Amino acid sequence: MLLSVINSVLEMQSLTRKADTILGFVPTMGYLHKGHLSLVEMAKKQCDIVIVSIFVNPTQFAPNEDLDNYPRDFDGDLKLLTELGVDYVFFPKTTEMYPAGYSTWVNVEGVSEVLCGKSRPAHFKGVSTIVCKLVNIVNPNYMYMGEKDFQQIAVLKRMLLDLNLETVIVPCPIIREADGLAMSSRNKFLDTQQRQDALCLYNSIQHTRTRYQQGCRTIGELIPEIEQIITKNNGKIDYIEFRTADDLKPIDQLDKNTRLFLAVYIGNTRLIDNAPLLSQ
Ligand code: PAJ
Repeated sequence: MLLSVINSVLEMQSLTRKADTILGFVPTMGYLHKGHLSLVEMAKKQCDIVIVSIFVNPTQFAPNEDLDNYPRDFDGDLKLLTELGVDYVFFPKTTEMYPAGYSTWVNVEGVSEVLCGKSRPAHFKGVSTIVCKLVNIVNPNYMYMGEKDFQQIAVLKRMLLDLNLETVIVPCPIIREADGLAMSSRNKFLDTQQRQDALCLYNSIQHTRTRYQQGCRTIGELIPEIEQIITKNNGKIDYIEFRTADDLKPIDQLDKNTRLFLAVYIGNTRLIDNAPLLSQ
């Protein structure tokens, strides 16, 4: 089947409501890279029909953030998705997703208030609202999401459970460049020096893993070491935190269920990364 682009909510809904096959869904904001494509590949392996949405969701950006500059390349995206054999691309207009008078929001308390939720207070309200709407429109069995945005998965799992939505999230591993930098649409904003500096996130992860393997369990010892790696590479720290992998609770001591979470500004570009302490 050839890929079809669907712009209308009603058309998307009527297509997926009558499907009696396993539907896999990959929500994205476009400008696709190998990280996004890995989710599509996983969905293709596990589902009969694969739908990818491309929608730069304005409500998850604060007024001072990069909504207007967010990179877009719809034709390039379509080419990549066609090559992968995607069945439908849902590409709605902002006015259809948020028509005049739009007033309803989904807010997941607790897990969305820490880490990125602290530095970007309205972000997860925008994410949960749009993903709730997309799940209602597409009605997928499985939704494929990257662990690059580990907290996003935790917030959305909570939302699906609390709102009795039957879609199941399939978390997929972080795809990295050869030198370890996690792939991200925002990496294109980095100049040559900043691209080099950006390695401080992955280097912090590797350093933490080595120290953990050497027996270090003390957060107070590790944080200054990570701070040093980041600042030495011109990074500005937003947060460095160790939390439990299952519910993102703060911890006193490192153990095998701990995950490291990082958010760092390289120039004006905010990069995030995270990893378990034992390499996967
Ligand atoms: P976007 O940033 O476009 O990411 C879409 C999906 O790709 C997310 O699940 C994200 O975690 C995954 N992804 C991005 N980089 C990745 C990488 N290097 N490795 C693996 N997966 C990666 O996340 C969003 O869009 C939006 O918040 C969205 C869920 C679409 C709601 O608007």
